[in-house]
Amino acid sequence: MNTINYLRSFFPGRTEEEIIEDLSLLGIDKETGEDIVTPWTVQSDHETGVDYDKLIEKFGSTRIEEDLLKRFEKITGRAPHRFLRRGIFFSHRDMNTVLDLYEQGKPFYLYTGRGPSSEAMHLGHLISFMFCKWLQDVFDVPLVIQVTDDEKLLWKNLEVKEAIKLAHENSKDIIACGFNPDKTFIFSNFEHIGNNPEFYQNIILIQSKVTFNQVRGIFGFVESDAIGKIAFPATQAAPALSTTFPFIFKGEKVQCLIPCGIDQDPYFRMTRDVAPKLGLPKPALLHSIFFPALQGSRTKMSASDSTSAIFLTDSAEQIKDKVNKYAFSGGRATVEEHRKEGGDCEVDTSYQWLKFFLEDDQKLEELRKKYTSGEMLTGELKKELIDVLQALVGEHQKRRSEATDEIVNKFMVPRDLGFALNK
Ligand code: TYM
Repeated sequence: MNTINYLRSFFPGRTEEEIIEDLSLLGIDKETGEDIVTPWTVQSDHETGVDYDKLIEKFGSTRIEEDLLKRFEKITGRAPHRFLRRGIFFSHRDMNTVLDLYEQGKPFYLYTGRGPSSEAMHLGHLISFMFCKWLQDVFDVPLVIQVTDDEKLLWKNLEVKEAIKLAHENSKDIIACGFNPDKTFIFSNFEHIGNNPEFYQNIILIQSKVTFNQVRGIFGFVESDAIGKIAFPATQAAPALSTTFPFIFKGEKVQCLIPCGIDQDPYFRMTRDVAPKLGLPKPALLHSIFFPALQGSRTKMSASDSTSAIFLTDSAEQIKDKVNKYAFSGGRATVEEHRKEGGDCEVDTSYQWLKFFLEDDQKLEELRKKYTSGEMLTGELKKELIDVLQALVGEHQKRRSEATDEIVNKFMVPRDLGFALNK
Protein backbone atom coordinates (compact mmCIF):
# COMPACT_ATOMS: atom_id res chain seq x y z
CA MET A 1 0.00 0.00 0.00
CA ASN A 2 1.16 3.55 -0.62
CA THR A 3 1.87 4.81 2.90
CA ILE A 4 1.47 8.47 1.92
CA ASN A 5 -2.05 8.00 0.63
CA TYR A 6 -2.92 6.02 3.71
CA LEU A 7 -1.56 8.69 6.05
CA ARG A 8 -3.13 11.52 4.09
CA SER A 9 -6.54 10.27 5.18
CA PHE A 10 -5.50 10.79 8.82
CA PHE A 11 -3.78 14.14 8.30
CA PRO A 12 -5.85 15.97 5.68
CA GLY A 13 -4.13 19.30 6.48
CA ARG A 14 -0.56 18.07 5.76
CA THR A 15 1.03 18.32 2.34
CA GLU A 16 2.60 15.27 0.69
CA GLU A 17 6.01 16.87 1.20
CA GLU A 18 5.44 17.26 4.93
CA ILE A 19 4.27 13.68 5.24
CA ILE A 20 7.34 12.42 3.36
CA GLU A 21 9.53 14.44 5.71
CA ASP A 22 7.79 12.96 8.76
CA LEU A 23 8.14 9.44 7.40
CA SER A 24 11.81 9.76 6.63
CA LEU A 25 12.40 11.12 10.12
CA LEU A 26 10.70 8.00 11.44
CA GLY A 27 12.87 5.83 9.23
CA ILE A 28 10.00 4.38 7.23
CA ASP A 29 10.09 3.92 3.46
CA LYS A 30 7.39 6.11 1.94
CA GLU A 31 6.26 3.56 -0.63
CA THR A 32 6.44 0.25 1.15
CA GLY A 33 6.60 0.90 4.87
CA GLU A 34 9.78 -1.29 4.92
CA ASP A 35 13.10 -0.61 6.70
CA ILE A 36 15.18 2.18 5.31
CA VAL A 37 18.93 2.70 5.20
CA THR A 38 20.19 6.16 4.35
CA PRO A 39 23.20 8.16 5.56
CA TRP A 40 20.84 9.65 8.18
CA THR A 41 18.50 6.87 9.22
CA VAL A 42 18.82 3.15 9.82
CA GLN A 43 15.67 1.44 11.01
CA SER A 44 14.47 -2.13 10.74
CA ASP A 45 11.34 -3.90 11.90
CA HIS A 46 13.06 -7.28 11.98
CA GLU A 47 14.31 -8.67 15.28
CA THR A 48 17.68 -9.57 13.76
CA GLY A 49 18.05 -6.17 12.11
CA VAL A 50 18.47 -4.98 8.55
CA ASP A 51 18.06 -7.58 5.81
CA TYR A 52 21.47 -7.21 4.18
CA ASP A 53 20.73 -9.54 1.28
CA LYS A 54 17.85 -7.28 0.28
CA LEU A 55 20.08 -4.25 0.71
CA ILE A 56 22.73 -5.69 -1.60
CA GLU A 57 20.04 -6.26 -4.19
CA LYS A 58 18.56 -2.79 -3.73
CA PHE A 59 21.92 -1.00 -3.82
CA GLY A 60 23.34 -3.23 -6.58
CA SER A 61 26.59 -4.12 -4.78
CA THR A 62 28.20 -7.58 -4.54
CA ARG A 63 28.40 -9.89 -1.52
CA ILE A 64 31.91 -10.68 -0.28
CA GLU A 65 32.16 -14.41 -0.89
CA GLU A 66 34.72 -17.01 0.14
CA ASP A 67 36.55 -16.87 -3.22
CA LEU A 68 37.27 -13.14 -2.80
CA LEU A 69 38.66 -13.78 0.69
CA LYS A 70 40.85 -16.59 -0.67
CA ARG A 71 42.15 -14.33 -3.42
CA PHE A 72 42.80 -11.60 -0.87
CA GLU A 73 44.82 -14.00 1.29
CA LYS A 74 46.75 -15.39 -1.65
CA ILE A 75 47.75 -11.99 -2.98
CA THR A 76 48.54 -10.26 0.31
CA GLY A 77 49.86 -13.26 2.24
CA ARG A 78 47.70 -12.13 5.18
CA ALA A 79 44.79 -14.00 6.77
CA PRO A 80 41.59 -11.94 6.41
CA HIS A 81 40.73 -9.62 9.29
CA ARG A 82 38.03 -10.89 11.66
CA PHE A 83 35.63 -8.32 10.13
CA LEU A 84 36.03 -10.19 6.82
CA ARG A 85 36.03 -13.70 8.34
CA ARG A 86 32.78 -12.93 10.16
CA GLY A 87 30.88 -11.15 7.41
CA ILE A 88 31.04 -7.74 9.14
CA PHE A 89 32.49 -6.24 5.97
CA PHE A 90 30.03 -8.11 3.81
CA SER A 91 29.62 -6.27 0.52
CA HIS A 92 31.86 -4.60 -2.06
CA ARG A 93 32.10 -2.85 -5.37
CA ASP A 94 35.07 -3.60 -7.65
CA MET A 95 37.32 -5.09 -4.96
CA ASN A 96 38.69 -7.44 -7.62
CA THR A 97 39.91 -4.41 -9.59
CA VAL A 98 41.83 -3.23 -6.53
CA LEU A 99 43.39 -6.68 -6.06
CA ASP A 100 44.31 -6.78 -9.78
CA LEU A 101 46.12 -3.47 -9.39
CA TYR A 102 47.93 -4.62 -6.27
CA GLU A 103 48.98 -7.81 -8.01
CA GLN A 104 50.35 -5.79 -10.93
CA GLY A 105 52.28 -3.48 -8.59
CA LYS A 106 50.04 -0.53 -9.50
CA PRO A 107 48.90 2.00 -6.89
CA PHE A 108 45.60 2.70 -5.20
CA TYR A 109 44.63 4.71 -2.12
CA LEU A 110 42.19 4.48 0.75
CA TYR A 111 39.54 7.07 1.59
CA THR A 112 37.16 7.18 4.54
CA GLY A 113 35.56 9.83 6.76
CA ARG A 114 33.68 11.03 9.77
CA GLY A 115 30.88 13.55 10.34
CA PRO A 116 31.78 15.18 13.67
CA SER A 117 28.39 15.69 15.28
CA SER A 118 29.57 15.31 18.86
CA GLU A 119 32.78 15.29 20.80
CA ALA A 120 32.49 11.64 21.73
CA MET A 121 32.64 9.01 19.03
CA HIS A 122 31.05 5.63 19.77
CA LEU A 123 32.04 2.03 19.16
CA GLY A 124 30.13 1.89 15.86
CA HIS A 125 32.34 4.64 14.44
CA LEU A 126 35.43 2.59 15.24
CA ILE A 127 34.54 -0.22 12.84
CA SER A 128 35.52 1.49 9.57
CA PHE A 129 38.58 3.13 11.09
CA MET A 130 39.88 -0.10 12.67
CA PHE A 131 39.43 -1.81 9.34
CA CYS A 132 41.13 1.00 7.42
CA LYS A 133 44.10 0.83 9.77
CA TRP A 134 44.43 -2.88 9.01
CA LEU A 135 44.09 -2.31 5.25
CA GLN A 136 46.73 0.41 5.41
CA ASP A 137 49.09 -1.98 7.21
CA VAL A 138 48.45 -4.78 4.72
CA PHE A 139 48.72 -2.73 1.53
CA ASP A 140 51.00 0.09 2.71
CA VAL A 141 49.04 2.75 0.78
CA PRO A 142 48.12 6.41 1.37
CA LEU A 143 44.90 7.08 3.28
CA VAL A 144 42.84 10.28 3.19
CA ILE A 145 40.26 10.96 5.91
CA GLN A 146 37.60 13.60 5.36
CA VAL A 147 36.07 15.16 8.47
CA THR A 148 32.81 16.74 7.32
CA ASP A 149 32.33 19.63 9.75
CA ASP A 150 30.40 21.40 6.95
CA GLU A 151 27.95 18.49 6.71
CA LYS A 152 27.29 18.66 10.43
CA LEU A 153 26.64 22.41 10.31
CA LEU A 154 24.02 21.71 7.65
CA TRP A 155 22.35 18.75 9.33
CA LYS A 156 22.83 19.55 13.02
CA ASN A 157 22.74 23.36 12.95
CA LEU A 158 26.20 23.65 14.52
CA GLU A 159 28.10 26.94 14.55
CA VAL A 160 31.13 27.05 12.21
CA LYS A 161 33.62 27.31 15.10
CA GLU A 162 31.95 24.53 17.05
CA ALA A 163 31.96 22.23 13.99
CA ILE A 164 35.69 22.86 13.39
CA LYS A 165 36.43 22.22 17.07
CA LEU A 166 34.57 18.90 16.91
CA ALA A 167 36.51 18.00 13.75
CA HIS A 168 39.76 18.40 15.69
CA GLU A 169 38.49 16.50 18.75
CA ASN A 170 37.25 13.63 16.56
CA SER A 171 40.58 13.58 14.71
CA LYS A 172 42.23 12.63 18.00
CA ASP A 173 40.02 9.54 18.20
CA ILE A 174 40.83 8.76 14.59
CA ILE A 175 44.58 9.11 15.17
CA ALA A 176 44.24 6.88 18.26
CA CYS A 177 43.29 4.05 15.86
CA GLY A 178 47.00 3.91 15.00
CA PHE A 179 47.29 5.24 11.43
CA ASN A 180 50.72 5.64 9.88
CA PRO A 181 51.49 9.41 10.19
CA ASP A 182 53.67 9.30 7.07
CA LYS A 183 50.84 7.90 4.92
CA THR A 184 47.70 9.51 6.35
CA PHE A 185 46.16 12.89 5.59
CA ILE A 186 43.21 14.00 7.76
CA PHE A 187 41.32 17.15 6.75
CA SER A 188 38.40 19.25 7.96
CA ASN A 189 36.38 20.49 4.97
CA PHE A 190 35.99 23.99 6.40
CA GLU A 191 39.73 24.38 6.87
CA HIS A 192 41.06 22.55 3.85
CA ILE A 193 38.83 23.79 1.08
CA GLY A 194 40.16 27.38 0.98
CA ASN A 195 43.80 26.34 0.70
CA ASN A 196 43.29 23.74 -1.99
CA PRO A 197 41.68 25.01 -5.18
CA GLU A 198 41.70 21.51 -6.74
CA PHE A 199 39.33 20.30 -4.03
CA TYR A 200 36.82 23.07 -4.77
CA GLN A 201 37.29 22.64 -8.52
CA ASN A 202 36.44 18.94 -8.29
CA ILE A 203 33.39 19.68 -6.14
CA ILE A 204 32.07 22.05 -8.79
CA LEU A 205 32.94 19.64 -11.61
CA ILE A 206 30.95 16.93 -9.81
CA GLN A 207 28.06 19.33 -9.19
CA SER A 208 28.02 20.13 -12.90
CA LYS A 209 27.42 16.45 -13.73
CA VAL A 210 24.62 15.65 -11.25
CA THR A 211 21.06 16.89 -11.53
CA PHE A 212 18.62 17.69 -8.73
CA ASN A 213 16.48 14.78 -9.93
CA GLN A 214 19.40 12.41 -9.40
CA VAL A 215 20.21 13.51 -5.86
CA ARG A 216 16.53 13.56 -4.99
CA GLY A 217 16.30 9.95 -6.19
CA ILE A 218 19.44 8.86 -4.34
CA PHE A 219 19.07 10.79 -1.06
CA GLY A 220 15.36 11.58 -0.82
CA PHE A 221 15.89 15.36 -0.64
CA VAL A 222 12.73 17.48 -0.66
CA GLU A 223 12.17 21.01 -1.91
CA SER A 224 12.20 22.50 1.57
CA ASP A 225 15.74 21.18 2.21
CA ALA A 226 18.48 23.81 2.46
CA ILE A 227 20.38 24.05 -0.82
CA GLY A 228 23.59 23.34 1.11
CA LYS A 229 22.30 19.82 1.80
CA ILE A 230 21.47 19.28 -1.84
CA ALA A 231 24.97 20.35 -2.91
CA PHE A 232 26.82 18.52 -0.12
CA PRO A 233 27.09 15.04 -1.73
CA ALA A 234 29.60 16.49 -4.22
CA THR A 235 31.84 17.45 -1.28
CA GLN A 236 31.85 13.90 0.06
CA ALA A 237 32.41 12.56 -3.47
CA ALA A 238 35.43 14.75 -4.33
CA PRO A 239 38.05 12.92 -2.17
CA ALA A 240 37.29 9.74 -4.16
CA LEU A 241 38.95 11.51 -7.13
CA SER A 242 42.74 11.46 -6.81
CA THR A 243 43.03 14.83 -8.59
CA THR A 244 41.56 16.41 -5.42
CA PHE A 245 44.96 15.85 -3.76
CA PRO A 246 47.68 17.17 -6.11
CA PHE A 247 50.17 17.31 -3.21
CA ILE A 248 49.78 13.53 -2.80
CA PHE A 249 49.07 12.17 -6.28
CA LYS A 250 50.71 14.86 -8.46
CA GLY A 251 47.70 14.96 -10.79
CA GLU A 252 47.78 11.20 -11.54
CA LYS A 253 44.52 9.29 -11.99
CA VAL A 254 44.67 6.78 -9.14
CA GLN A 255 42.14 4.14 -8.09
CA CYS A 256 40.39 4.83 -4.78
CA LEU A 257 39.06 2.24 -2.29
CA ILE A 258 36.49 3.36 0.30
CA PRO A 259 35.81 1.27 3.41
CA CYS A 260 32.65 2.51 5.18
CA GLY A 261 29.35 1.53 6.74
CA ILE A 262 26.78 0.68 4.07
CA ASP A 263 24.76 3.76 5.06
CA GLN A 264 27.32 5.87 3.17
CA ASP A 265 26.88 3.97 -0.10
CA PRO A 266 24.42 6.48 -1.64
CA TYR A 267 27.21 9.08 -1.81
CA PHE A 268 29.43 6.70 -3.68
CA ARG A 269 26.78 5.36 -6.05
CA MET A 270 26.58 8.97 -7.16
CA THR A 271 30.40 9.26 -7.31
CA ARG A 272 30.70 6.09 -9.38
CA ASP A 273 28.28 7.53 -11.89
CA VAL A 274 30.23 10.80 -12.16
CA ALA A 275 33.90 9.69 -12.02
CA PRO A 276 34.09 8.24 -15.57
CA LYS A 277 32.43 11.40 -16.91
CA LEU A 278 35.45 13.26 -15.53
CA GLY A 279 37.88 10.70 -16.96
CA LEU A 280 38.66 9.11 -13.58
CA PRO A 281 38.24 5.56 -12.26
CA LYS A 282 35.09 4.63 -10.32
CA PRO A 283 35.94 4.29 -6.63
CA ALA A 284 35.82 0.73 -5.24
CA LEU A 285 34.03 0.09 -1.95
CA LEU A 286 34.00 -2.23 1.03
CA HIS A 287 30.78 -2.00 3.09
CA SER A 288 30.24 -2.99 6.70
CA ILE A 289 27.02 -3.99 8.40
CA PHE A 290 25.88 -1.79 11.29
CA PHE A 291 27.19 -2.14 14.76
CA PRO A 292 23.90 -2.59 16.62
CA ALA A 293 22.54 -0.43 19.42
CA LEU A 294 22.70 -1.84 22.94
CA GLN A 295 18.96 -2.43 22.65
CA GLY A 296 19.45 -4.78 19.68
CA SER A 297 19.83 -4.95 15.94
CA ARG A 298 16.70 -3.09 14.84
CA THR A 299 18.69 0.10 14.74
CA LYS A 300 22.33 1.11 14.55
CA MET A 301 24.20 2.57 17.47
CA SER A 302 23.54 6.30 17.55
CA ALA A 303 25.38 9.15 19.25
CA SER A 304 22.14 11.05 19.80
CA ASP A 305 20.77 8.33 22.13
CA SER A 306 23.34 7.85 24.89
CA THR A 307 21.63 4.70 26.21
CA SER A 308 22.07 3.04 22.79
CA ALA A 309 25.81 3.58 22.68
CA ILE A 310 29.11 3.01 24.41
CA PHE A 311 31.22 6.11 23.82
CA LEU A 312 34.97 6.08 23.50
CA THR A 313 35.00 8.43 26.50
CA ASP A 314 32.99 6.09 28.79
CA SER A 315 34.71 4.90 31.96
CA ALA A 316 35.10 1.21 32.83
CA GLU A 317 32.28 1.63 35.35
CA GLN A 318 29.95 3.26 32.78
CA ILE A 319 30.64 0.45 30.32
CA LYS A 320 29.74 -2.14 32.92
CA ASP A 321 26.56 -0.33 33.96
CA LYS A 322 25.35 0.27 30.41
CA VAL A 323 25.93 -3.33 29.31
CA ASN A 324 24.27 -4.74 32.41
CA LYS A 325 21.33 -2.34 32.19
CA TYR A 326 20.61 -1.99 28.47
CA ALA A 327 22.21 -4.82 26.45
CA PHE A 328 19.35 -6.75 24.88
CA SER A 329 19.35 -10.35 26.03
CA GLY A 330 18.64 -13.39 23.90
CA GLY A 331 18.20 -15.35 27.13
CA ARG A 332 15.00 -16.90 28.47
CA ALA A 333 12.64 -15.48 31.09
CA THR A 334 13.80 -17.74 33.94
CA VAL A 335 17.05 -19.55 34.72
CA GLU A 336 15.24 -22.91 34.52
CA GLU A 337 13.83 -22.11 31.11
CA HIS A 338 17.21 -20.82 29.91
CA ARG A 339 19.04 -23.95 31.05
CA LYS A 340 16.46 -26.04 29.20
CA GLU A 341 15.96 -24.04 26.01
CA GLY A 342 19.23 -22.10 25.73
CA GLY A 343 19.77 -18.51 24.57
CA ASP A 344 19.45 -16.98 21.10
CA CYS A 345 22.79 -15.53 19.95
CA GLU A 346 21.27 -14.02 16.81
CA VAL A 347 19.39 -11.38 18.82
CA ASP A 348 21.66 -11.17 21.86
CA THR A 349 23.57 -7.87 21.89
CA SER A 350 26.47 -9.22 23.98
CA TYR A 351 27.14 -12.03 21.53
CA GLN A 352 26.68 -9.78 18.52
CA TRP A 353 29.12 -7.24 19.93
CA LEU A 354 31.66 -9.96 20.80
CA LYS A 355 31.56 -10.93 17.13
CA PHE A 356 32.93 -7.49 16.31
CA PHE A 357 35.56 -7.23 19.01
CA LEU A 358 36.66 -10.63 20.33
CA GLU A 359 39.62 -11.65 18.16
CA ASP A 360 39.84 -15.30 19.22
CA ASP A 361 37.62 -17.40 16.86
CA GLN A 362 37.81 -20.45 19.08
CA LYS A 363 36.70 -18.62 22.21
CA LEU A 364 33.84 -16.95 20.31
CA GLU A 365 32.61 -20.34 19.12
CA GLU A 366 32.89 -21.74 22.63
CA LEU A 367 30.78 -18.87 24.00
CA ARG A 368 28.21 -19.37 21.25
CA LYS A 369 27.86 -23.06 22.04
CA LYS A 370 27.63 -22.54 25.78
CA TYR A 371 25.03 -19.78 25.49
CA THR A 372 22.96 -21.60 22.89
CA SER A 373 22.91 -24.78 24.96
CA GLY A 374 21.89 -22.92 28.13
CA GLU A 375 25.12 -23.74 29.95
CA MET A 376 25.98 -20.05 30.05
CA LEU A 377 23.61 -17.40 31.43
CA THR A 378 23.09 -13.85 30.12
CA GLY A 379 24.95 -12.31 33.08
CA GLU A 380 27.99 -14.47 32.33
CA LEU A 381 27.98 -13.58 28.65
CA LYS A 382 27.65 -9.89 29.55
CA LYS A 383 30.68 -10.23 31.82
CA GLU A 384 32.73 -11.58 28.87
CA LEU A 385 31.68 -8.58 26.79
CA ILE A 386 32.37 -6.08 29.58
CA ASP A 387 35.95 -7.42 29.94
CA VAL A 388 36.60 -7.09 26.20
CA LEU A 389 35.10 -3.59 25.98
CA GLN A 390 36.83 -2.24 29.07
CA ALA A 391 40.21 -3.33 27.65
CA LEU A 392 39.42 -1.98 24.16
CA VAL A 393 38.12 1.41 25.31
CA GLY A 394 40.80 1.75 28.01
CA GLU A 395 43.59 1.23 25.47
CA HIS A 396 41.90 3.60 23.03
CA GLN A 397 41.68 6.31 25.72
CA LYS A 398 45.36 5.91 26.51
CA ARG A 399 46.35 6.32 22.84
CA ARG A 400 43.94 9.25 22.48
CA SER A 401 45.52 11.07 25.42
CA GLU A 402 48.82 10.87 23.52
CA ALA A 403 47.28 12.54 20.44
CA THR A 404 48.21 16.13 21.29
CA ASP A 405 47.13 19.19 19.25
CA GLU A 406 50.61 19.19 17.74
CA ILE A 407 50.19 15.63 16.49
CA VAL A 408 46.71 16.43 15.10
CA ASN A 409 48.17 19.39 13.20
CA LYS A 410 50.85 17.15 11.69
CA PHE A 411 48.23 14.76 10.30
CA MET A 412 46.27 17.71 8.92
CA VAL A 413 49.03 19.39 6.91
CA PRO A 414 48.63 18.86 3.13
CA ARG A 415 51.83 17.03 2.21
CA ASP A 416 53.53 14.43 0.08
CA LEU A 417 52.73 10.95 1.44
CA GLY A 418 55.53 9.23 -0.43
CA PHE A 419 53.21 8.14 -3.22
CA ALA A 420 54.85 6.55 -6.25
CA LEU A 421 53.17 5.34 -9.43
CA ASN A 422 54.96 1.99 -9.29
CA LYS A 423 55.84 0.00 -6.22
P1 TYM B 1 29.61 9.18 10.34
O1 TYM B 1 30.37 10.10 11.21
O2 TYM B 1 28.14 9.06 10.52
O3 TYM B 1 30.23 7.73 10.47
C1 TYM B 1 31.62 7.50 10.28
C2 TYM B 1 31.81 6.09 9.74
O4 TYM B 1 31.26 5.15 10.67
C3 TYM B 1 30.27 4.38 10.04
N1 TYM B 1 29.25 4.12 11.06
C4 TYM B 1 28.97 2.89 11.47
N2 TYM B 1 29.48 1.70 11.10
C5 TYM B 1 28.99 0.61 11.69
N3 TYM B 1 28.02 0.67 12.65
C6 TYM B 1 27.49 1.85 13.07
N4 TYM B 1 26.57 1.87 14.01
C7 TYM B 1 27.97 3.04 12.46
N5 TYM B 1 27.68 4.36 12.60
C8 TYM B 1 28.48 5.00 11.73
C9 TYM B 1 29.77 5.18 8.86
O5 TYM B 1 29.22 4.36 7.86
C10 TYM B 1 31.07 5.84 8.41
O6 TYM B 1 31.82 4.94 7.62
N6 TYM B 1 29.15 11.63 5.96
C11 TYM B 1 30.02 10.77 6.75
C12 TYM B 1 31.47 11.24 6.79
C13 TYM B 1 32.27 10.88 5.58
C14 TYM B 1 32.59 9.57 5.14
C15 TYM B 1 33.36 9.74 3.95
C16 TYM B 1 32.32 8.30 5.65
C17 TYM B 1 32.82 11.76 4.69
N7 TYM B 1 33.48 11.07 3.72
C18 TYM B 1 33.86 8.63 3.28
C19 TYM B 1 32.81 7.20 4.97
C20 TYM B 1 33.57 7.36 3.79
C21 TYM B 1 29.47 10.63 8.15
O7 TYM B 1 28.76 11.46 8.64
O8 TYM B 1 29.95 9.50 8.81
